[in-house]
Amino acid sequence: MRLSCTINGEPREVDGVWEGESLLYVLRERLGLPGSKNACEQGECGSCSVYLDGELACSCLILAGQAEGREVVTVEGLAEEGELHPVQEAFLEAGAVQCGFCTPGLIVATHDLLRRTPEPSDPEIREALAGNLCRCTGYEKILDAVRLAASRT
Ligand code: FES
Ligand code: FES
Repeated sequence: MRLSCTINGEPREVDGVWEGESLLYVLRERLGLPGSKNACEQGECGSCSVYLDGELACSCLILAGQAEGREVVTVEGLAEEGELHPVQEAFLEAGAVQCGFCTPGLIVATHDLLRRTPEPSDPEIREALAGNLCRCTGYEKILDAVRLAASRT
């Protein structure tokens, strides 16, 4: 089937999509957007987080066909005019990127948190990131990154 949707502000058409294919697969394997990671493919880890019509979603749980006519924004779409988004900068500066597998999903989830709650408390940060698993860390540097991003956005 053909999928037509908007990805990171650009209209895109993808031919030959199988009905059972996930949006994550289309992004990574057909559109060359590897930022969203495939870590569990079960909706458990948040590594594949994207915006679908402005709502945070796990792209591994979305059938590609469900994105028909809709707007998808991936972690690649957060950077503007070649400049990293302040949330991306904050993760780099705070040392919150370790193996980096969880990082794209954490960045999209942090972006979503800060647009809803510009000055989140620590419990609000923890709650917002509860669906994003990092296997490398005690999360302190990730929390530092979110606080740093909040102070700048
Ligand atoms: S890969 Fe989608 S939630 Fe883990
Ligand atoms: S940095 Fe490795 S899983 Fe989070």
